[in-house]
Amino acid sequence: MTRLSYDFEDAVAIVTGAARGVGRAIVHQFVDARARVVAADRDADGLAETCAGLGDRVVAVTGDISTEAGAASIVGAATAQFGRLDICVNNAAVAPHASLFDETVEVWDRVYAVNCRGTFLMTRAAAKVMIAQGEGGRVINFSSGVSNRGSAGAAAYASSRAATESFGRVAAIELAPHNILVNTVSPGLIDTQPKPLPPRMAEALAARIPTLPLARPGKPEEVAQLVLWLASPASSYVTGSIYCVDGGAGVGVRPKGEIVDDDIRYDWVTGRKRS
Ligand SMILES: NC(=O)c1ccc[n+]([C@@H]2O[C@H](COP(=O)([O-])OP(=O)(O)OC[C@H]3O[C@@H](n4cnc5c(N)ncnc54)[C@H](O)[C@@H]3O)[C@@H](O)[C@H]2O)c1
Repeated sequence: MTRLSYDFEDAVAIVTGAARGVGRAIVHQFVDARARVVAADRDADGLAETCAGLGDRVVAVTGDISTEAGAASIVGAATAQFGRLDICVNNAAVAPHASLFDETVEVWDRVYAVNCRGTFLMTRAAAKVMIAQGEGGRVINFSSGVSNRGSAGAAAYASSRAATESFGRVAAIELAPHNILVNTVSPGLIDTQPKPLPPRMAEALAARIPTLPLARPGKPEEVAQLVLWLASPASSYVTGSIYCVDGGAGVGVRPKGEIVDDDIRYDWVTGRKRS
């Protein structure tokens, strides 16, 4: 994949959800761009795989972003290990699906605890450090294309991601006086599902992928490139925005075959002659 190159040599970044998927790709791209990185996740084994061979520019922290203690330990690792914090990428999330009738209160609350409370706790803890440093900073939150369309089984996940978008707008306003820029990345279908795919998921994806405008899932690296741009000086006048990285999924479906208008009402507009 062709990448823009960045130099984050002086910057310290936190990446949550770093044990796999998009988070792992973000960690690797930050390290390639010479950042120092706190890679955080609740999955210690996955974190160890992400960080293998990356050397002392990365510190792995096992923690739960949905608790104040977890968020504090992740942010504390940045200052303890690297002495500062410039970028906080709140990528960790959970997305279990269930029908309205099968959804339990416990699962609903857990989804909100991770996706909403976790994003809030991490943003607040990171912003306190950035404000004390007095040099601004970046917070990059995550949403999903499903936040603004209906998708069966996604009541908790979709609504929690919509809440993250709303939270990001408020945080952007409150943190702007400190030159802390807050933006949200909204991916479409990204190829992070553990393989082999369970049969129902394989069937659903096989039906969905050809309908995507680009007719393929995105790669975690393609999401990471957007994150690095939002963390870089190139996006210095961007805050409070939501960026889709979805291969066009948010605007429609891939057209099938030739585009033909055979609506006779518009023959007078098009000048079409019928035989
Ligand atoms: N993959 C997609 O198709 C897709 C689509 C739309 C949006 N997204 C968003 O992109 C982001 C990354 O997606 P992904 O597919 O790489 O996710 P993933 O499920 O593959 O990985 C998420 C990581 O977050 C960690 N995590 C979960 N809860 C945590 C907690 N409480 N504390 C710490 N870590 C925790 C998990 O252990 C896991 O390593 C998410 O925010 C997701 O909502 C993904």
